[in-house]
Amino acid sequence: MTDKNWTETWLDIDNHWNLYFMFPMVFVDLIHAETLYNHSFVALTGYTSEQLVHKPLDGIVSFDVPISEIYEHSYPNPPSFTMESSRIAYATTATNQKIPMEYFVVKMKTRPQSYVIVFRQMEEVAQSLFQRFSKTFLQDVNLGVILINADYRLVEISDMACKILGLDKEETVGKPVEDVFANVPLEYQLVQRTLLDGIIVRNHAVSWTNGQKRYDLLLDSNVLREEDGRIVGAYLFFKDVTNLRSLEEQVQRSDRLSMIGQIAAGTAHEIRNPLTSIKGFLQLFRNSFEGRGMVREQGYVDLMLTEITRVNEMLNEFLMLSKPKHAKYKQTNISHVLLNILPIIQGEAILHQVMLHYNSHPDLPLVVADQEMLKQVFLNICKNGIEAMNDGGGTLTVTEKVDIEDRYVWIEIHDTGPGIPIYVMDKIFDPFFTTKDDATGLGLSVCQRIIHEIGGNIRVSSKGFGTTFTICIPYQ
Ligand SMILES: Nc1ncnc2c1ncn2[C@@H]1O[C@H](COP(=O)(O)OP(=O)(O)O)[C@@H](O)[C@H]1O
Ligand SMILES: [Mg+2]
Repeated sequence: MTDKNWTETWLDIDNHWNLYFMFPMVFVDLIHAETLYNHSFVALTGYTSEQLVHKPLDGIVSFDVPISEIYEHSYPNPPSFTMESSRIAYATTATNQKIPMEYFVVKMKTRPQSYVIVFRQMEEVAQSLFQRFSKTFLQDVNLGVILINADYRLVEISDMACKILGLDKEETVGKPVEDVFANVPLEYQLVQRTLLDGIIVRNHAVSWTNGQKRYDLLLDSNVLREEDGRIVGAYLFFKDVTNLRSLEEQVQRSDRLSMIGQIAAGTAHEIRNPLTSIKGFLQLFRNSFEGRGMVREQGYVDLMLTEITRVNEMLNEFLMLSKPKHAKYKQTNISHVLLNILPIIQGEAILHQVMLHYNSHPDLPLVVADQEMLKQVFLNICKNGIEAMNDGGGTLTVTEKVDIEDRYVWIEIHDTGPGIPIYVMDKIFDPFFTTKDDATGLGLSVCQRIIHEIGGNIRVSSKGFGTTFTICIPYQ
């Protein structure tokens, strides 16, 4: 085979082929019994071009079907390599090794009974998966990765590392490490030490300040060696654990909550049953009092029934505290949920002479949540806001936002009430904490449980005047 032959063959093939120039390929003309192997194929199998001239294809490659059948599954245009398009074959090398390969066959338009068979080494498939993994790994918002070669030059740095270290990727890649980290105190220069002394670092905690922000980082670093043991580079990666402390507190709180929840729900269940029969008999009493014209007694019974309804409502809240058993998690548009409950909030607002504003977002990403529970969360928090503006005349504003960078949907509920005093702030999510006379103090703890369950969080900010609750829910 000469390159000239191939050039001529290529001229015959239309431009769909550009993609495949680098792959091992074989051209077969069945009428003229001609077989041409391209450069890549020759290189892969380890023969010389001369050895392959006029060599029939089945002498070099064994296919998964008889050779006569491979042309039956030919494509009119080259497909891309996928599981569906490709089949398996083994090429025999000059040293008699078998190389597993994927292949597909394309029928040529310009020549009768002529085909091109495109191969791809199976390892390359694995490689491309690995490449994809490393790319994702580097873009992962949670991982700082730095890769350095044996010349102490920075070869790769992840987006997160750039962000935390305050570096610009374009400006740092390819630069010597000393230049990049010129201003960094020596004890932080772990990569160099790893490279120089072969020290392996595991879970090394450091604090790092970048401008106003302080980060707690957990570092790992190690050298990268060639098979013969030669050091060819080093990597360093770190995780931002700044939020771990508050996470720990959150876990403790939610543990406590779940215990209280279980007790409360268990008790609530036990109380609800006798309550139902008491209510039933009271209704009977009421009817017979009514029949006998005993107005005063009837009034008493009405009062008792109202109280029972109140106790029942409270029990329902108790039951909500335990883990929901019938939660229906599905893709949910929060705008729809809010629109659904807006009339209820509006009703409450009018009752307390409060203005209601709703700023919707045109296309909020979908989140996975239970709609009924989300309704409960928004209602509870809006109700708190409205109750806080008791004197009337305030404004409640519900705003939808999207945090694209961290992939969260934000719902901000802002009121112009008196705000939450600092000494109260710590407790508002505790079950049974309330500053109101006739409230259960369960609202916010239920909200928090529901939102934590779907991986979100609730933040509060209240600076003397007005309060904003921000409900953050992650989306895919
Ligand atoms: N928007 C708000 N403004 C001021 N205080 C608030 C607000 N939301 C909640 N709080 C405080 O948090 C407490 C706990 O709220 P919650 O758990 O809903 O219980 P409850 O409403 O039954 O008191 C309230 O009693 C109140 O003191
Ligand atoms: Mg409440």
